[in-house]
Amino acid sequence: MAKLKVGVLISGRGSNMAALIEAAKAADYPAEIALVVSNVADAPGVAVAGRAGIATAIVPHRGQPDRETFDRAVSAALERHGVELVALAGFLRIFSPWFPEHWKDRLINIHPSLLPAFKGLHVQQQAIDAGVRVSGCTVHWVTPDLDAGPIIAQAAVPVLADDTADSLAARILRQEHRLYPQVVRWIAEGRVATAQDGRVRVSGVPAGATLLFSTEP
Ligand code: GRF
Repeated sequence: MAKLKVGVLISGRGSNMAALIEAAKAADYPAEIALVVSNVADAPGVAVAGRAGIATAIVPHRGQPDRETFDRAVSAALERHGVELVALAGFLRIFSPWFPEHWKDRLINIHPSLLPAFKGLHVQQQAIDAGVRVSGCTVHWVTPDLDAGPIIAQAAVPVLADDTADSLAARILRQEHRLYPQVVRWIAEGRVATAQDGRVRVSGVPAGATLLFSTEP
């Protein structure tokens, strides 16, 4: 069967992108990374993708007259490569409403908190400051509202008493690298659907599979 063509949008390190590239190397993985787009020319993830033989495109946000013009340029690059699903992976640009509307039900994000808690930036520090004992990451469909689309799957980790934002981020990131490839697999297998009430059903997976839990410190 043809593999689902995934476009990954990055702005920096690209470790989630690398996890997707790694997963897609398996012959039985139902998706392939068709393109990596970065708005930052020297983002380290661009070189990682290039070394893995993945097509890359740089679409600078500077010099664009407005957000929608930039969004349309990103979209054109994705469409030139036949992309069917867009995965945001540390893409640090806020879209105009046009982009999530155009890619509706074909656009996902990974966010390093258990949404709907802790939206926006510096979310690991937000979690520490709130005193929560558990945090994690969320993969969700993207809607025009920031970090608010329907939740597909989450991974939970403990927040330890001596955690810093960096140590918590590292613990969460290890789970991100498990969760994102898993969700892309489910989407490629046609298992992920959003009901009218905004809740996401993942069919044909064991009960509880949409929550990963790690107790590793
Ligand atoms: C990750 O923590 C992701 O959840 C957030 O941005 C970070 C990107 O890291 N959206 P990387 O570029 O994938 O290493």
